[in-house]
Amino acid sequence: MLVPRYNRYSLPSRQILPEAKYHTRRTFLSQIGLATAALLTGCDSNNTAQAAGSKTVSGFDLPPRPSDKFYPAKANPAFTSASVAPRAITKKELAGHYNNFYEFSTAKEEVDRLSAALTITPWTVDIAGLVEKPFQIGFEDLIAKFPLEERVYRMRCVEAWSMVVPWSGFPLKALIDFCKPLSSATHVRFLSFNRPEEAPGMRGGDYPFPYYEGLRLDEARNELAFVVTGAYGKPMPKQHGAPLRIAMPWKYGYKGAKSVVKVEFINHEPKTLWNDLAPEEYGFYSNVDPERPHPRWSQQFERDINTGDQVETLKYNGYGKYVAALYPNPVF
Ligand code: MTE
Repeated sequence: MLVPRYNRYSLPSRQILPEAKYHTRRTFLSQIGLATAALLTGCDSNNTAQAAGSKTVSGFDLPPRPSDKFYPAKANPAFTSASVAPRAITKKELAGHYNNFYEFSTAKEEVDRLSAALTITPWTVDIAGLVEKPFQIGFEDLIAKFPLEERVYRMRCVEAWSMVVPWSGFPLKALIDFCKPLSSATHVRFLSFNRPEEAPGMRGGDYPFPYYEGLRLDEARNELAFVVTGAYGKPMPKQHGAPLRIAMPWKYGYKGAKSVVKVEFINHEPKTLWNDLAPEEYGFYSNVDPERPHPRWSQQFERDINTGDQVETLKYNGYGKYVAALYPNPVF
């Protein structure tokens, strides 16, 4: 990911790469200058996640909550590791030690450790905007309303790496119906938590936190759109966005806000954090598309963090049969 306005600032020294490592990066990096390159926190394909294979990942042992009894959730046979194209599930130690969660750090390998400070109990979700009646609901009450299921989804980051994760949760459509949006609502906006005292990455002022994202309402009602409350058969670890995050496997990963505290229904396309930072690089829609290069790199291949292999990127991340009809005209 890139924050163009960073170019005006000097770089923190820990983000400057040793020269040899820098030269192994993709050729585009050499054209855009060190300041920008060092901020592309995930495009360097240097398999740092694989090195985590030998370590025990933190985050999966959380204090007990009543909702623990819902795990492991029953697998939905429509969404397995073979349902798009056979691909092994990413080891949880790799997926849980290679996280984009900028509220804690832009260094993926630091997020599991730093996010341990996030308080997730109690957790309240605000249902707001164009609904019959706005309300707040605690996470434990919310999760008890919906039967949980497990779905294995591919996750393609815009930075050209990917993983395959068994998420637990419930369809976003079920949450939307529960919220009773008015017919005037056309879009839904998600807001992440705002606790700089628990999240060091929020304290620098470099990003316009809290993290905000959004979807068109018909996208949000698509059967693939998922409210994720767990991973690998257990309640959601903090580094993946506890206690709840959104997953849309046909879109680049940044469309799925983590640790959501507000779901707001509106009647216009919402602003989104990455689009505000770099509109020419991160569109509102951000559907996975190998034919549409990022302005600074190709999107034709992705590094599977499980194996380190470069694999072909599929249009809509392989989920076209579910979502292509949503986009009769090209969108960005
Ligand atoms: N949500 C919040 N609140 N903050 C973030 O920094 N990063 C996004 C997305 N959701 C992000 C976020 C990006 S860029 C990606 S690729 C995915 O989370 C990463 O999810 P993972 O760490 O569980 O793999």
